[in-house]
Amino acid sequence: MTANSPSLRVGLLGLGAVGTLMAGHWHRLQPVCLPRAGRHAAAQQRRLQWLNGQQQMLQLPVWQGTGLDWLVVTTKAADTLPALQQWAAQLPAVDRILLLQNGMGQQQACADWLQQQGLPCRLWAGISTEGAYLDTAAGQPPRVVHAGAGNTLAGPWQEDASGIPLPPAVTAVADIRQPMREKLAINAVINPLTALFRCRNGELVSNRRYHTQLLALAQETATLSEQLGWSLSEPLVQRAQAVARATAANRSSTLQDILAGRPTELPWITGYLLHCAHKAGVPAPLNSSIYQQLQEHSDRSS
Ligand SMILES: NC(=O)c1ccc[n+]([C@@H]2O[C@H](COP(=O)([O-])OP(=O)(O)OC[C@H]3O[C@@H](n4cnc5c(N)ncnc54)[C@H](OP(=O)(O)O)[C@@H]3O)[C@@H](O)[C@H]2O)c1
Repeated sequence: MTANSPSLRVGLLGLGAVGTLMAGHWHRLQPVCLPRAGRHAAAQQRRLQWLNGQQQMLQLPVWQGTGLDWLVVTTKAADTLPALQQWAAQLPAVDRILLLQNGMGQQQACADWLQQQGLPCRLWAGISTEGAYLDTAAGQPPRVVHAGAGNTLAGPWQEDASGIPLPPAVTAVADIRQPMREKLAINAVINPLTALFRCRNGELVSNRRYHTQLLALAQETATLSEQLGWSLSEPLVQRAQAVARATAANRSSTLQDILAGRPTELPWITGYLLHCAHKAGVPAPLNSSIYQQLQEHSDRSS
């Protein structure tokens, strides 16, 4: 297992909710930030409110292209590759890139691009069950609120046996694809349905009509996962219901994005699953029809 180190050089690309939370976990390492091209030449300030209510001010100097042990990308899935591409000329100074995001598809797109560019950085992927959101309530300075404790896992996307330490609060796993696929399968059930019905997670089990849809989508996704050789550790139908109950009051990130008029990460969740199904020649009619309904809705509202 890889240990954490107090002397790592860490950069953060994507200083939103998760990026700010990670900057808080790693403040002793004095991470630097990589702002959008052409924006913010000066250090970035972020206010973070921890679970216990304690407030912390974080100051992140802008990266000047010096050596980094880890460049951690915490943008949304769709922004990952374009965000990295902005820094192509400086990436030879980066030892490892960790993509810490929901969804799948962006990791391989980045791996392919790094290879095409002949860039030596090794690619890692990670997932987190921590919760954080940006609070911009009127009359208050904007702050990121740490809303739920959880775990952050990371592992090499391609073989990397050199045992580099990870930043604090991140646990190394040998096969990151397994927990990523487990998370993707759950998200592919809960997220599109809560978006379609505009409901909180718990309504997927308490409302009879929604529950019927949850059972059908979880069953199709379980069969599909099996045919893709994903071998989920728990039966998906039971797990999806347990997650909906345990997070009954929550709005899924997809529903939150829709309500806020933002693009969702569904292309990197259901879209990725459908891409795998298509490549393997496996039908996924329910996933496909729900995804299409949501795409049509987002096309109409944009
Ligand atoms: N929030 C959670 O509780 C949580 C939990 C687990 C996993 N996740 C996952 O973690 C990822 C990040 O989520 P989030 O909630 O932190 O999203 P977020 O708050 O929207 O943060 C994303 C950040 O990336 C920045 N960004 C986008 N393109 C950029 C670029 N080219 N250069 C520099 N910065 C760029 C955005 O800047 P602008 O503000 O300027 O657009 C924004 O600050 C997602 O995949 C999400 O699903 C989130």
